[in-house]
Amino acid sequence: MQSNYVKQLLSKMTLQEKIGQLQQIAGDFFGDDGSPITGPLSTYKVSKTQLYNIGSVLGVSGAENVLKIQREYLKNNRLHIPLIFMADIIHGYKTIFPIPLALGSTWDPELVKRVAQASAAEASASGIDVTFSPMVDLVHDPRWGRVMESTGEDPYLNSLFAKSFVDGYQGNLPVDEKHVAATVKHFAAYGAPEAGREYNTVDMSEWRFREQYLPAYQKAIESKALLVMTSFNILFGIPATGNKYLMRHILRRELGFNGVLISDWNAINEMISHGVASDSEEAAEKAIQAGTDIDMMSFAFLGSLEKLAMKNEEVKKLIDEAAARVLNLKDALGLFDDPYRGVDAAKERQIVLSQENLGLAKKAAEEATVLLKNQHQSLPLDSNKAIALIGSKANTGDLLGNWSWKGDPASTQTIKSALEDHFDNILFEAGYDMVSAENNLSLNEQAISSAKKQDVILYVAGLSASQSGEASSMTDISLPKEQLDLLRKLSKLHKPIITIVITGRPLDLTEVDRLSDAILLPWFPGTAGALAIADIVSGKTNPTGRLSMTFPKSVGQIPIYYNYYNTGRPLTGTLEDRNNIYLSKYIDSSNDPLYPFGFGLSYSNYTLKDLRLSKKEFTADESITASVTVKNNSKISGTATVQWYIHDLVGEVVRPVKELKHFQRVQLGAGAEETVTFTVSKQDLSYVHADFTRVSDAGSFKLLVGFSSQTELETSFLLKN
Ligand code: NOJ
Repeated sequence: MQSNYVKQLLSKMTLQEKIGQLQQIAGDFFGDDGSPITGPLSTYKVSKTQLYNIGSVLGVSGAENVLKIQREYLKNNRLHIPLIFMADIIHGYKTIFPIPLALGSTWDPELVKRVAQASAAEASASGIDVTFSPMVDLVHDPRWGRVMESTGEDPYLNSLFAKSFVDGYQGNLPVDEKHVAATVKHFAAYGAPEAGREYNTVDMSEWRFREQYLPAYQKAIESKALLVMTSFNILFGIPATGNKYLMRHILRRELGFNGVLISDWNAINEMISHGVASDSEEAAEKAIQAGTDIDMMSFAFLGSLEKLAMKNEEVKKLIDEAAARVLNLKDALGLFDDPYRGVDAAKERQIVLSQENLGLAKKAAEEATVLLKNQHQSLPLDSNKAIALIGSKANTGDLLGNWSWKGDPASTQTIKSALEDHFDNILFEAGYDMVSAENNLSLNEQAISSAKKQDVILYVAGLSASQSGEASSMTDISLPKEQLDLLRKLSKLHKPIITIVITGRPLDLTEVDRLSDAILLPWFPGTAGALAIADIVSGKTNPTGRLSMTFPKSVGQIPIYYNYYNTGRPLTGTLEDRNNIYLSKYIDSSNDPLYPFGFGLSYSNYTLKDLRLSKKEFTADESITASVTVKNNSKISGTATVQWYIHDLVGEVVRPVKELKHFQRVQLGAGAEETVTFTVSKQDLSYVHADFTRVSDAGSFKLLVGFSSQTELETSFLLKN
């Protein structure tokens, strides 16, 4: 709905002014005093008059900086329409939280909402109005570098997190000074590039798209996200940014999205390389026809829309509609009441990197860390243990991960210094060199000689921040060769080895698993990550993280995910099957992953018993309640994650072998038990049919429950007509 103010404003605007609102430029157009810089103006052929009609800027922050640019701009904009400042606040502004894939491992939507709130508070205090987050792209392929920005492979879990991010960033509408507008991205299916290669073709049936990929975007839009970003890829044969069916039909009409649709960086002009537009003008026309409102940095709108509008009345109407949406966004952000949204440098200093935010960053890093292996209870370590701390990753602040633009690795505490607060006897050796391989042999030798002297080896390995994120696809997802070589040598000492893996993507950890007694996965844990790791290693914190993405045994198993469809020749594991080669399997590997979706160990030991149903049959207007008792059999209190899955035995279209439908994080003291319930309704049983309707059918279902997608108990029930 347009406010009267926006209506009046629009009626006063010239065509050029409206088009200006639809163009976004990068911050390097402005100098330190907020005035324009000639370099970018001439590179992109933007006149000064055009610059002062531009609607939004990306990648500028800092209260003083933003104030200067906005002041200067408002002096020069005829109708005093403020700029919007947008930026990639992906997992925190200066307080960096764990990467989104790690936040996915918390299985804690409420915590993620608080993380988004804190990120919004820091970003808005620093002058940012809109974040280009959350990325809710569902992912199946760890070769793709941007898995780090996703919360994982599951439609249900991703939808919960999509809502958490949007609610946390935006608060209640209109967006107040402590919040920012959220941008759901990348619409759509950017997370499924062929072979995991960045920007590659995405091709899937519309049925599958609607069944698995669409739900998280839909949830974000239902949660009232104010912006959506187009994806670089094609879907159904057409680049998303110019895909009328995807944007006008699915996004706007079906999902009811009436906010701002912004292109990804240069995505409008990239339609030329895709080969669906012959020049920038045709690309601009396709984009505006498809419903794209803002052109991020391709300058196709600024360069061509006026000409197109002169030729075609319909384009004029589309420009009006798009400009109205941008102005509505400014209205929803309160920019017409206060173009500065209360920004001031003193407030910024108080909010950014506050103790409260740092505390939350630590809590998030604790919950995100997954204990993947813990043979012979190698972890936690007693404070009197003599530790050989090996690995240059233990002595670096490179724990923030990609997309941590304003985070400062140089002032981030290292794992080494955090461990030194808990343990007196630590011998540190870098062991391998992350920058040049030349020193590796002598570093190895020093590491081995230290390791010989100590009780236990704590080996910190993994990737650097730039080895995940945009444009960092990889074909080999093992640990770097020099790190694996050293681990092999260390294993020959026959001392307990605990490996800590820093990574932004699932890795092939098959050999690491074989050579280590325990494995801890903190991902890129953020500003307070080292403190969280030290607390877990020392036993002050009991790990609770759960994978939201399957870890393969080898790169050859990719794409791999828990909710696959049965084929006509499924591998069932029966005796007969073992002798049958004509089944859906490999001849050189098992189908099973190394670590399944939902998996994560604890220092406690939990069991499940007494799975019960309130009844065995129900009709669509009723529900059925399942209960199960979870017990902590250990002397350590902890949090168990009870996971409920459903398998629809017969559908109109194929159904996944199991689908996560519900879960609980249950806090249990030593020896305590608790009964938890899941009320199943027909919504939980609905799925996308061949005609794309989402409904449930009568029939038999299995209900499975466990601590991972490799479930422990199961029962069945019937949904009657
Ligand atoms: C390109 C990325 O794909 C997108 O996610 C990001 O928001 C924009 N660049 C702006 O930085």
